Amino acid sequence: MEIFKIVLLFSILVSLSSMAATTSVVDFCVADFNYPVGPAGYPCRNPANLTVDDFVFSGLGVAGNTSNIFGVGVTSAFDLTFPALNGLGISMSRLDIGVGGVVPIHSHRVSELILVIEGEIIAGFMDSSDKVYYKTLNKGDIMIFPQSLLHFQVNVGKTPALAFVSLNSASPNFQTTTTSLFANDLPTNVIEKITLLDAIQAKKLKRIFGGTN
Ligand SMILES: *[C@@H]1O[C@H](CO)[C@@H](O)[C@H](O)[C@H]1NC(C)=O
Ligand SMILES: *[C@@H]1O[C@H](CO)[C@@H](O)[C@H](O)[C@H]1NC(C)=O
Repeated sequence: MEIFKIVLLFSILVSLSSMAATTSVVDFCVADFNYPVGPAGYPCRNPANLTVDDFVFSGLGVAGNTSNIFGVGVTSAFDLTFPALNGLGISMSRLDIGVGGVVPIHSHRVSELILVIEGEIIAGFMDSSDKVYYKTLNKGDIMIFPQSLLHFQVNVGKTPALAFVSLNSASPNFQTTTTSLFANDLPTNVIEKITLLDAIQAKKLKRIFGGTN
């Protein structure tokens, strides 16, 4: 199918570019979760115990659950779900965005490439001088969100949207501004000061996201 050819090409391009940047004394390093993670990832499992199935992740064929406040389902092949990615500087996620749904504003430690498969998405990012770059993306469009910059995606179409993203880390993390502010015990009066929101709005968002104080 045409869609899967596009996804395949996309992932090959991303992995070639990440391989070029890597030098290593081993071919691969499938994560051994018996040991703690370090800055370069997990220690390696014994290659003698590996099979092809360790290098295959089959979870991206299924739509994610979009029944949440943002209307988005994110299914991720990161090191914890796909241990063969450990040390290779690459990962992939599937985004299902319901009608009117969003991937709220967030950032990663690394860059992200999005490929739209279905639907109509406004995607954008802000650079560190506050310039915003955003555009409506359609099937077959890709867009890059440079490392660590805040970015977002909004389904502005009349149908659910499907996209795949690839990130140049096996553990890219996902820091969402809304939950960073409202899902913890940062006091409301501090939130008022650092965001210029009023207390009513801050407390409302704390209730929604489980924050206290
Ligand atoms: C790998 O296989 C060897 C030999 O069969 C075994 O002794 C060892 O426990 C295995 N290691 C892991 C991590 O499964
Ligand atoms: C989707 O998530 C909602 C909210 O967590 C849950 O109630 C619902 O059962 C889930 N649906 C499926 C199909 O898993």
